[in-house]
Amino acid sequence: MMKMSTVSSSSSPAKTTSLTEEKNKLKEKKDQSNAMVSSYWGSRDRGLLGRMDRVAMELLHVPKTFADKVAYRTVKLLRIPTDLFFKRRYGCRAMMLETVAAVPGMVGGVLLHLRSLRKFEQSGGWIKALLEEAENERMHLMTMVELVQPKWYERLLVLAVQGVFFNAYFVLYVLSPKLAHRVVGYLEEEAIHSYTEYLKDLNEGRIENVSAPAIAIDYWRLPKDATLKDVITVIRADEAHHRDVNHFASDIHFQGKELKESPAPVGYH
Ligand SMILES: [Fe+2]
Ligand SMILES: [Fe+2]
Repeated sequence: MMKMSTVSSSSSPAKTTSLTEEKNKLKEKKDQSNAMVSSYWGSRDRGLLGRMDRVAMELLHVPKTFADKVAYRTVKLLRIPTDLFFKRRYGCRAMMLETVAAVPGMVGGVLLHLRSLRKFEQSGGWIKALLEEAENERMHLMTMVELVQPKWYERLLVLAVQGVFFNAYFVLYVLSPKLAHRVVGYLEEEAIHSYTEYLKDLNEGRIENVSAPAIAIDYWRLPKDATLKDVITVIRADEAHHRDVNHFASDIHFQGKELKESPAPVGYH
């Protein structure tokens, strides 16, 4: 801006040409950013690629209470068959796990929605925050499925796991939202770990760093020449956000409060 005003105050032809060039460049830039505006949600550039570095990827929640330890152990136990089944096939692993990851936000959101209707009370933004999480996880799945095609037996496994997990999480959330959110917090920590390993394989050339799928470029407002590495990096930042939201929700319950008493972190995605 400073440079623009200096140039415009001069009448020299050379400087006028440079001002025109600069204006053209700015217009070109604006046109390029406008080309990226259409979106599934119609939202603008959230600069995720720029701020993902500020997300604390390794910030782990230390289990202190009995409920925390139950949640932590449950997630660690669930990881054993996952590790055995998928080994280092991180694309396949991510695709399958995202079919599960998109369930808790929807279950929690629906239950809070029904509670709001029953009790004639606000949710403090938590319905929106949890439904946003579910939608974001679904977009992770829609992205991964562009990269990995599920086999028939994997589709069958998804059916079985969804049937069990949806009902189990529903019951858990009704009985103890504190425990339910803590379980999700730890699941998100595992997701961060998996995507970190995925990135490691990409950096070391074990997985080809292909171009980002169009759906990912559109959804996360990535540059047009973005690669798989960029996509995995932004997905991992999303998982870190989910981790923080769910541990935060569990902490609110732990303090004997209701979620609506602490405003929800909405609008991240
Ligand atoms: Fe995810
Ligand atoms: Fe997540």
